[in-house]
Amino acid sequence: MNQYLIRGGRPLFGEITISGAKNAAVAIIPAALLVDGTCRIENIPQISDVTLLLNILEELGARVRVLNRHAVELDCHAIRSTHPSYDLARRIRASYYLIGALLGRFGEAAVAMPGGCDFGVRPIDQHIKGFCAMGAEVKVESGFIQACAKSGRLTGTSVYLDVVSVGATMNIMMAAVLAKGSTVIENAAKEPHIVDLANFLNSMGADVKGAGTDTIKIRGVDHLAGGSYGIIPDQIEAGTYMAAVAAAGGHVLIKNVIPKHLDCISAKLVEMGVYIEDRGDAVLVRRSGPLQKTNVKTMPYPGFPTDMQPQIAAVLSTAQGTSIVNENVWNSRFKYIDELKRMGANIQADGHVAVIEGVEHLQGAPVQACDLRAGAAMVIAGLCAEGVTELSQVQFIERGYEDLVGKLRAVGADIRVVDAPDIAEQKEAHIG
Ligand code: EPU
Repeated sequence: MNQYLIRGGRPLFGEITISGAKNAAVAIIPAALLVDGTCRIENIPQISDVTLLLNILEELGARVRVLNRHAVELDCHAIRSTHPSYDLARRIRASYYLIGALLGRFGEAAVAMPGGCDFGVRPIDQHIKGFCAMGAEVKVESGFIQACAKSGRLTGTSVYLDVVSVGATMNIMMAAVLAKGSTVIENAAKEPHIVDLANFLNSMGADVKGAGTDTIKIRGVDHLAGGSYGIIPDQIEAGTYMAAVAAAGGHVLIKNVIPKHLDCISAKLVEMGVYIEDRGDAVLVRRSGPLQKTNVKTMPYPGFPTDMQPQIAAVLSTAQGTSIVNENVWNSRFKYIDELKRMGANIQADGHVAVIEGVEHLQGAPVQACDLRAGAAMVIAGLCAEGVTELSQVQFIERGYEDLVGKLRAVGADIRVVDAPDIAEQKEAHIG
């Protein structure tokens, strides 16, 4: 099992290029099942969640042709099954998108209950409410969600989401593009990846309007013919490297970003004393002076993203003063705090709130990645800590960050991948 060995205390200098958005890719790949033709998808991030989804599509009968490291061609003309294998589907959260896509195109789907990062209860009742409103019968049996359109094809309708849900918005959108008639999703989520999915579907021949607002209108069409599409840059990957520069200090140009998507993150870093400059399709991040405290409340987009909450808390661990972090999207997402405490952070968490008393320095320690973003937070903590941090469970990080170690090494970070049994030897020889 791999670990990351990080020697902290080196500021970061240079350039990092951001990959395609994970949370767009994990929806767009299943959405290709709706297309009765060939679609070419570019700017796909090389992460394990994407590999898993491509394997699932192949198993269902899709022809998957890898064009290069970041582009694939998918031909879902001859899908054989609407029943992905339990073992593959249960490993990933985004497997719930297979339900919307298969149900929308074939009128039926049987998909394992989704897995993914464990930070508490993750209901999908709003997805199911949407499918049922469109005429599906949905039941959970032996670990599978089984969905079937009662009349063979879903029917457009109006769905009001009780909570703003990214997954439910995208899943209902997928189910609706081939439905009979029009569907309206009210109280829809507005994240950049919602707009990206709508743009992908439209480029294949769908009729989706209003994505990025809280009302999305989908006029069902009979057929999606295929086409070519490039995924947007990853907002959270970019935010993670911005946070890394804030924590470690230095001066880094973060390329291939949409700065507008980063406003919610930049605003907080600026409050903390970080210099950020919009360079069109890049942002320059510089931090030389001390970090100042700030307060953060996670909210659906355009609010501060919950997927940046652990990373910003890692940065605030060494800011001057007392910061308060409110988690408003998930019931609980503070498991990583015990790991930060092992490194000397002074944080008290209770329910949705964490109170962070900034300390002068964190110290390297053996810690683990509790989940994807928690793992990113531990990398950030390791980069600014004194001494060596041994980070285990890094497979969580590799689910969602393409070549995190390579990108950080390219800007001067002393981070390397080691085999767990070799760790003592590697520590001795650690020269960056
Ligand atoms: N919710 C419900 N019922 C539902 C769906 C959601 O009550 O049917 C609640 C959730 O419990 C949560 C809130 O609504 O409190 C928001 O959940 P949402 O559905 O938006 O989350 P998701 O679609 O399951 C995606 C991302 C998460 C990210 C959230 C919020 C993917 C695969 N996952 O999850 O990303 O935290 O949106 O932005 O897109 C990550 O990338 O690390 C990650 C966890």
